[in-house]
Amino acid sequence: MSQTFKVTVLPGDGIGPEVVEEALRVLKVVEELENVTFSFEYARIGGIAIDEDGTPLPQETLDKARRSDAVLLGAVGGPKWDNNPGHLRPETGLLGIRKELGLYANLRPAFMLDCMVEVSSLKEEVVKGVDLMVIRELTGGLYFGEKKRYQAEQGEVASDELIYHEYEIERIVRRAFEVARLRSKRLVSVDKANVLESSRLWRKVVDRLASEYPDVELRHQLVDSCAMELIRYPKQFDTIVTENMFGDILSDEASMLTGSIGMLPSASLADGNFGLYEPVHGSAPDIAGKGIANPTATILSAAMMLRYSFGLEKAANAIEAAVHKVLNSGVRTGDIAKNKEEAVGTKEMSAKIIEEVKQVYTKA
Ligand code: IPM
Ligand code: MN
Repeated sequence: MSQTFKVTVLPGDGIGPEVVEEALRVLKVVEELENVTFSFEYARIGGIAIDEDGTPLPQETLDKARRSDAVLLGAVGGPKWDNNPGHLRPETGLLGIRKELGLYANLRPAFMLDCMVEVSSLKEEVVKGVDLMVIRELTGGLYFGEKKRYQAEQGEVASDELIYHEYEIERIVRRAFEVARLRSKRLVSVDKANVLESSRLWRKVVDRLASEYPDVELRHQLVDSCAMELIRYPKQFDTIVTENMFGDILSDEASMLTGSIGMLPSASLADGNFGLYEPVHGSAPDIAGKGIANPTATILSAAMMLRYSFGLEKAANAIEAAVHKVLNSGVRTGDIAKNKEEAVGTKEMSAKIIEEVKQVYTKA
């Protein structure tokens, strides 16, 4: 009997369903190659769940996710729900599932393939060879602290609490040291310790843990300086670890070093092997339903799922190598094509990747 992995599939909104479908096609091929079985169970999140269930994160979705080994998500959001109140916004579903499932470690790689250098808005010598990983704390900090809104004498007041517990810092920083160890053993911890108390605790915890990872070279950096250095000389970075809000901003910045957010995957991991995998890009409502979205980021997210949740490293590597080969051969979707007339559609892109996955896997 082959091993079975249960995957909850959350296509979401906009181009989400289109790109997720292509990632599932790739996983179907992996089933044959690895002699494993994936059982896919669909559920709703985001705008579509607001429309159908009256909430961006239905209980049924959480129940299904909890019963599964991993979650594959497309994207949430769109102009249709932009003016909804907070609890009826698609993004609230995303924040809710992260918190409910304890997905505290968000891994966001940003890599530049040589054949993609021309797509970046930055100079070739700056971006060629960039290969870094932003590890963002995902269930604490400003996003989840107490929010207040009240009337004072001088007018309305709003506040968001930035709170971190030592254990929250410790578990994300440990993950980061471990990831850095498997990369090039260089870790930069980013904070604002010259101003924020939560950052001073962050730094203290990082320093305490550093003695357990003597093989990893550690550096602290203030977030403003890191933002600047990321653009000036990005190749100095390998693994970056930081709190939720800084990580949100720095990971978007890092993604643009590669010039194409349509290619970047992410993993949001809990303790153990459970994780949620999604492309870094959003729901791109302007191109939804046209069959032109780039499925690469979601396919690479599925590869991360194989690696981090299922331990299928060989298949993960094969998918990544296949993507590189296809891009190298000049096949491009519209978002990354030099010559827009020659761009291929969503399905054609994934068909090319699938062809290569089979070849690369059997040769490896
Ligand atoms: C992201 C997104 C989300 C975040 C939004 C949609 C809530 O920007 O995953 O980075 O800020 O975390
Ligand atoms: Mn973001």
